[in-house]
Amino acid sequence: MKFAFSFVTIKKKTVKMKTLKTIRFKITKNIEEKIIRNFFYMALYVPPGGIPFPKSIIDEPKLYKYIENYGNKPGDLAVIAIKDTTIIGMIWGRINGADNKGWGFIDDKTPEIGIAVLPEYRNLGIGAKLLNQLFEAYSQEGYQNISLSVDKRNPSFNLYQRNGFMIVRDEDDSYVMKKELKKHPK
Ligand SMILES: CC(C)(COP(=O)(O)OP(=O)(O)OC[C@H]1O[C@@H](n2cnc3c(N)ncnc32)[C@H](O)[C@@H]1OP(=O)(O)O)[C@@H](O)C(=O)NCCC(=O)NCCS
Repeated sequence: MKFAFSFVTIKKKTVKMKTLKTIRFKITKNIEEKIIRNFFYMALYVPPGGIPFPKSIIDEPKLYKYIENYGNKPGDLAVIAIKDTTIIGMIWGRINGADNKGWGFIDDKTPEIGIAVLPEYRNLGIGAKLLNQLFEAYSQEGYQNISLSVDKRNPSFNLYQRNGFMIVRDEDDSYVMKKELKKHPK
């Protein structure tokens, strides 16, 4: 029985690796608003059994500021995951300054990130790839850190910890986490 279990596990891993190989990753600043809206909506945490937010919540100023006119502010940088011609995952960062703090605010030099992958493509390693590509892209541009805010119940907390984010603030329902980026000679 143990043998049968290992065989199934290996087969699943092989299928995951094959799927991951068919996905392209692209660094970009140009994202259509309706696309970033969809991924941002997906990134809003709703606990199991909770009532989903109305889609219009993205228009509230405290949320809209994360995506408004995306690509045009210093610090805007994103990575998209593409399967065939469809965007199936996205990570994006933005600096919301001290006068307009986001939930994951650390300082004026640190982009705060959001991430989401379409449900049917989760747990294949796409999230980890998106994170690591964004780390590299920001570090190439001379940024030293990136930050995020995550609900304490959100399982993505494990993904962040595994990829080097540390808790820098413990708030009521969420953690603010920071990742130090590798230094690149400019
Ligand atoms: C978080 C998310 C982008 C990860 O993408 P992914 O491609 O599944 O990530 P990977 O395959 O590289 O890693 C899997 C890890 O993702 C996390 N994860 C898996 N399913 C998840 C889900 N439904 N919601 C949140 N995180 C999830 C877990 O940490 C998992 O690792 P674990 O099984 O060891 O705990 C994806 O699950 C998602 O879009 N979730 C909904 C949006 C969200 O919660 N965004 C983060 C807001 S802070």
